[in-house]
Order: sequence, then C-alpha cells, then structure tokens
Amino acid sequence: MSRLKCGVIGAGAWGKNHVRTIAGMAEVELTAICDMNPAIREKLGKQYPAAFVTDSVDEVLRRVDAVIVATPARTHVEVGMRAVEAGIPTLVEKPFALTVQDAERLAELAERRGVPLLVGHLLEYHPVIERLKAMIEDETLGQIYYLYAQRVNLGQVRPDENALWSFGPHDVSVALFLLGEAPVTVSAQGHSYLQKGIEDIVFLNMTFASGVMAHVQMSWLDPHKERRLTVVGSRQMAVFDDMASREKLRIYDKGIDRPPEYRSYGESLAIREGDIFIPRVANTEPLSAQMQHFVRVARKEIQPRADAKDGVRTVRVLEAASRSLRQGGAPISVEGV
Ligand SMILES: NC(=O)c1ccc[n+]([C@@H]2O[C@H](COP(=O)([O-])OP(=O)(O)OC[C@H]3O[C@@H](n4cnc5c(N)ncnc54)[C@H](O)[C@@H]3O)[C@@H](O)[C@H]2O)c1
Repeated sequence: MSRLKCGVIGAGAWGKNHVRTIAGMAEVELTAICDMNPAIREKLGKQYPAAFVTDSVDEVLRRVDAVIVATPARTHVEVGMRAVEAGIPTLVEKPFALTVQDAERLAELAERRGVPLLVGHLLEYHPVIERLKAMIEDETLGQIYYLYAQRVNLGQVRPDENALWSFGPHDVSVALFLLGEAPVTVSAQGHSYLQKGIEDIVFLNMTFASGVMAHVQMSWLDPHKERRLTVVGSRQMAVFDDMASREKLRIYDKGIDRPPEYRSYGESLAIREGDIFIPRVANTEPLSAQMQHFVRVARKEIQPRADAKDGVRTVRVLEAASRSLRQGGAPISVEGV
C-alpha cells in the first residue's frame, strides 16, 4: 500500500508534535508543512528536508491526502472548511470551533461533501481512557455515580482564550465519551485574576439525564500540575493520574454497600475497603494512536471515533458553560444553546 501523504497546517508549539509524529510513521509520508511564521518554516525546513514547507494553505491542500489543522483556535473553522472543500480528510485540533454555529457549519460541510472530519480530542485515544471506557461498559465499576477531573498548572497563560476553552475540550470530551451521553445542564464559575475578561480558573459542573454528575476544575494559576480523573461507581472507583510516569490507572475496590437485611439504620450502610488494583495498560502515546486512527479513517477503513459530531457536542457544552460563567454560575440547558 502506498504511503498516505500528510500535511500539517500550523506547526507551532503543538503542531510541531504532529509533524514529529507523522515523520516517525512508516505508513505515512510527511509531505507538506504550512506556517505563517518564517522562523518556524526555516527551522522545520532544515529538520524535514523532504517535506514541502510553505505559508500557503492551498499549496498544502494540492499535495496531500490528509491534513491536520493545528492553527490557533479562532482560525480552525476557516482553515478546516478550506481543507474539507478541497475534499481532503481533515483532523481539526481542539477546540473544534469557538461557537456552536461555526462548529455546525463545519460539520455540515463535511457531511454534505462526504469528507471524513475528525476533532483532536486526544484523550479519547489514551489507552487508560480506553480501558476506563471498557470498564464502564462491562459494568466493572458498577453504576456510575459521578466523576471529576482536575486540569491545573502554572501557565501557559493564553491571551485570547480562557481556561475553559483552553483546557475544557479535553475533559468535557472525555466525560461525554466515557458516559456515552451529553449533559442536560451545565453551570460554571470562574474568575479573571491576571487579564481582564479572561478567566484563569473555572469550575464546571455538568448534570446528565442518567443522574450522573461531572465536575471539572481548570486553571493555569495553580501551584500543582495535576491531570487527574476520578470515576466513582457503585462497585469500584477508578483514578487516572496522567502525571504519573507509570501505573497511571488505579482501581479501588471500595464502596458503600447496603446489605439486603439489616436490623438498625447504622448497619444499613457498610463501608467496603477492598484491594487496590493496578491494571497493566499499554504505554502507547495518545498522539501516535490518534494519528494511526486518522490514517485508517482517511483510507476509509474505519469510521472516526472523535468525529465532527463529537466536536459539535463538546463546543455546545463549552458555549453553554460560557453563558453560565457570564451569569455567575446559573444552570444553563445545553440543548438550548
Ligand atoms: N490536543 C492537544 O492536546 C493540544 C495541546 C495544545 C494545543 N492544542 C491546540 O492546538 C492549536 C495550536 O496551539 P499552539 O499552542 O500550537 O499555538 P501556537 O500559537 O504555538 O501555534 C499556532 C501556529 O499556527 C500558525 N498559524 C496561524 N494562522 C495560520 C494559518 N492561517 N495558516 C498556517 N499557519 C498558521 C502560527 O504561525 C503558529 O506557528 C490550538 O487550537 C490549541 O488549542 C491542542
């Protein structure tokens, strides 16, 4: 099979990781790189002499079979639409768009043109998230009660998007992926300490029709670097610590059981302190797993996992959360957005 010709549009802090990943894959050819910044073009041109390096999106689209858009968020829809118009299977980085209207425009175009369109919800390809998803589906954790995620660190302070739009796409998309449903209402509170009107910290709550609750704490103004997800089920509880270098997933056989027969109220709820399991999970790099998936989608071998609908759903939650932020944390219906 011939190698798939891939391009990257936007090769900044994050896009250069896509460039590196593609360059290291046997089944893919790094055909073209596009960036507006001459210094980046010069550097990558030297590093990857076989690739066509340009500042023209059209020049890339003329040469490739598949393309990744890793430009700043405000340009995702415009660049993504050009790629889809050209009939090129496209992966648009998160956030898919900055408004529901834009997200829907891009998704509808891809649908109409029959062009595969993915969103860079990287964590959906994380082997630990895949394992958690399997454990939720086969009911190892029991009925899911609630989950919460912490995505906090010091910097990078972004000038054009708040902590919700910078960090939120990851944890919101993961919550929707794991639970297999979208929230009914969201509420969010946050505060801008460093730049006027750009929240550095955001606390987001989501409620689901199934009764599950999800909470996400996001901040770039925090002494700790945390990337942690806790899922509490009726049988077991799971903690995914992405900052741990190994043993990232721990399953706690803990819970509070209600014995079938009891004499007094005190006996009605029994604490269960069981073992802690550390499942062996493959150490696959999510970016490389995402790219391998994208290649198979572009070759029309499989349907995309994090597809345009996933992109629209996540943007819908983020837009509802933005409204709630502006209204001091009032609950906002997600469907109404
Ligand atoms: N999936 C993830 O885990 C993850 C992680 C970090 C960033 N991101 C996302 O990746 C995107 C890029 O983030 P970043 O931190 O690399 O930003 P960045 O500013 O470092 O890089 C963006 C690059 O795009 C270039 N650019 C801008 N407009 C362009 C255009 N029209 N055509 C070609 N190039 C253009 C800029 O010159 C710059 O080099 C953002 O949407 C961000 O949210 C995703």
